[in-house]
Amino acid sequence: MSTMPALVKRHAQPGLCLERAPRPVAAGDDVLIAVERTGICGTDLHIHQWDDWAQRTVPIPMIIGHEFVGEVVEVGPNVRDFEPGMVVSAEGHVVCGRCRNCMAGRRHLCADAKGIGVHRPGAFAQYIAVPQANIWEHDREIDRDVAAIFDPLGNAVHCALQFDLVGEDVLVTGAGPIGIMAVAVARHVGARHIVITDVNPRRLAIAARMGATRTVDVRHETLADVQRELGIREGFDIGLEMSGNTDAFADMIGQMCHGGRIALLGIPPKHAAIDWHAVVFNMLTIKGIYGRQIFETWYKMSVLTQSGLDVKPVITHRLPFDRFEEGFQAMLDGEAGKVVLDWRA
Ligand SMILES: NC(=O)c1ccc[n+]([C@@H]2O[C@H](COP(=O)([O-])OP(=O)(O)OC[C@H]3O[C@@H](n4cnc5c(N)ncnc54)[C@H](O)[C@@H]3O)[C@@H](O)[C@H]2O)c1
Ligand SMILES: [Zn+2]
Ligand SMILES: [Zn+2]
Repeated sequence: MSTMPALVKRHAQPGLCLERAPRPVAAGDDVLIAVERTGICGTDLHIHQWDDWAQRTVPIPMIIGHEFVGEVVEVGPNVRDFEPGMVVSAEGHVVCGRCRNCMAGRRHLCADAKGIGVHRPGAFAQYIAVPQANIWEHDREIDRDVAAIFDPLGNAVHCALQFDLVGEDVLVTGAGPIGIMAVAVARHVGARHIVITDVNPRRLAIAARMGATRTVDVRHETLADVQRELGIREGFDIGLEMSGNTDAFADMIGQMCHGGRIALLGIPPKHAAIDWHAVVFNMLTIKGIYGRQIFETWYKMSVLTQSGLDVKPVITHRLPFDRFEEGFQAMLDGEAGKVVLDWRA
């Protein structure tokens, strides 16, 4: 049996093991992909740290990772549309195909989705086998680093395109990789002012390069002052919550215009309180956002990228896979935007 290097959650404690694992095969509907580059996601950090969510969710041992680009090397006997040499990524949610939403073509709303690198073997390895229904073929010219982070770019695009941004004043809370990319998307599609908040100056500086009108370190400035400075009289039209922080979300709710619309991607604590009076009296819309719309978001990401959307500045670290610990550490320290690992031998 041939083997490959893979990053495995082996023990029920913090940390990951770089091991040799059996190389998967292309059975049935599967496409076998030689992984070229991968992105480290917040999800991978949770699994690395073995927090409550990870303990409840991830069976071990498990090869982790879901953000990747690679080349098809082999296809299963039932696969028609893909062939060796194609440059591909994969939608990380493998859906059941049988629930009401799946049957209606709303796969992103599947009642029983399984996560690549969470519930089934992931992409932090030299090879991964993925069902053909999850494969996205890239344009051959695509920048491979950008292709490696199409999954989180998809979170940003899915969230940012929930509401019409043309000419609107947009507030993004949280300048993590996804918030930073959402700024680039909002700029690309024609928002007016784009204000982004964080408590991390390094990340805010990247957001400024990506097209933010104004960055706000909420430790030193208030959003109310910044609104006045920019001449935004009635509040932000659109809010993209991308921090998961309750203070940031409270700030947002207090600064929206009447009738303002909020797309909530950040994951707050389960029972966090919010100002319901502002929601009701100001008629705010709050929409929860999960994952990507399969595959409409992938289509949008591709054409936005082809038409000039450039999210590459969000990538701050590129490392060979055997230096993964440095990448994880940079993310844990809040030093990194996106970290890309190279899996070629
Ligand atoms: N819904 C989904 O499908 C989905 C998918 C991926 C990630 N997420 C969530 O989306 C969020 C963003 O993801 P990410 O990978 O960019 O996360 P991240 O943790 O890297 O970024 C969050 C940012 O929020 C900042 N922050 C902390 N306190 C703040 C405050 N008071 N005001 C403003 N900003 C503050 C942090 O400094 C950090 O830069 C996270 O909550 C993540 O769990 C959701
Ligand atoms: Zn991810
Ligand atoms: Zn389903």
